Amino acid sequence: MKFSSFLSTKGHHIDDTVDLKKGTLAWGIRAKNKAKTVPGFINATIGSATDDDGSLLILPTIKKEINELTSDQLFGYANVRGQKTFVKHWKEDTLSTFPEKLVERTDQLSTLPVTTCGGLTAGLSITGQLFLEENDSLLVPVSRWRNVDNIFFRNLNLREENYRLITKEGKLCFENLVEKIEEKEKTGKKVGIYLNFPNNPSGISPSFDQLKVLLEKLEEVKTSVIIFLDDAYEGYVFEKNVINHSIFPYLVDLNDNVLTAKIDGISKRYCAYGMRLGLVTLGFGKHKGQELKEQSRELLAKAARTIASSSPRGIQEVLAKIFSDEEKKQQLLREKKQVFDIIESRYKLTKEITKKNGHPYFTSVDFNSGFFCYFIVNDNKSASALGEEILEKGLGIVPFENKDTGLNGIRMAFCSIKRENISRALDILYST
Ligand SMILES: Cc1ncc(COP(=O)(O)O)c(C=O)c1O
Repeated sequence: MKFSSFLSTKGHHIDDTVDLKKGTLAWGIRAKNKAKTVPGFINATIGSATDDDGSLLILPTIKKEINELTSDQLFGYANVRGQKTFVKHWKEDTLSTFPEKLVERTDQLSTLPVTTCGGLTAGLSITGQLFLEENDSLLVPVSRWRNVDNIFFRNLNLREENYRLITKEGKLCFENLVEKIEEKEKTGKKVGIYLNFPNNPSGISPSFDQLKVLLEKLEEVKTSVIIFLDDAYEGYVFEKNVINHSIFPYLVDLNDNVLTAKIDGISKRYCAYGMRLGLVTLGFGKHKGQELKEQSRELLAKAARTIASSSPRGIQEVLAKIFSDEEKKQQLLREKKQVFDIIESRYKLTKEITKKNGHPYFTSVDFNSGFFCYFIVNDNKSASALGEEILEKGLGIVPFENKDTGLNGIRMAFCSIKRENISRALDILYST
């Protein structure tokens, strides 16, 4: 019997459409291989913050506490909703990043988070399954993290509808998203919207004035809207006029027709990428009773249970312990700030150089946050072809290209380039 005859329709679809040899992972592997043969090669493909010697930037307090876990804490199963103390602390930790006047309202209008096994990816997958079904529309920005397509379109078979988040001049705008919401509203059908700030790949986050355009539309929208708010890089914002925390508090309390699923996790917030712990918090448009909040949280836990049972327990125990001890918590926050400062100093240098330079083939977008800078490549050039040239010259970047949507750009991860190499990396880019 042929292996393929055992496959379900979905099995075939995933096999035919998901390509692990393309995209970020593939460019990452090529850059690693190239680095073995090209002296001084700079690998800016990786979306994890690394130290100057190339090792991961991690938070020592977390590492120390991992070593002190008991066997039960490390090897035991976790509560399927998340360890109680941990999820309470996680919510407090999230709320503490919002402006004070928004904290109480956001707290009241949202559930406690539920943990998901498999990082933010699992959170996106679980909420996608719970709120949308095959052929429901999901509005996605043209510039998006590539796995979004695998999760929502290749696995869940949702209908892909693109909105332009970034203009040709590299500015962020919500006008096109608002137009798309209005089109959907006319059909009266439920619609999903994927939002991600700081955005991967563009490194863009909105100012409040920019976001207002979207909020005003959501405030009056008449059809059901589910927002999947991917907060992977929340808080990594380096400019003053930009919202420097998740936009979640602005999405709750807007309109009873709007439900927001905030998807976040420890991957980037606490530099623990491989621990695979994500969290989902639901935010409502209007006040809801405690009973509904608990029911909806239970639903998230049921969905999590059907996919991967419970989440890793050890890292939850570690963070719960740190958050319960003021001294350890402050130490953790200081370590996090150190990582932030390193990334910010790389950002500032990257920004300074890109502001000074112009290029005949590409335009730098108004990146202001996150781990990446991004260049829109002119229509008559191919980002992938330029990526090949850049790779040969000693710099690993990731091209983003899709002829159907008009996506054509180059992403450089400044989070993984040591500061002294940034100028050389940009020289290579600008000399291509
Ligand atoms: C925008 C965005 N969302 C989600 C993820 C996935 O996070 P996790 O590794 O926790 O699944 C990433 C990872 O790079 C990302 O860039």
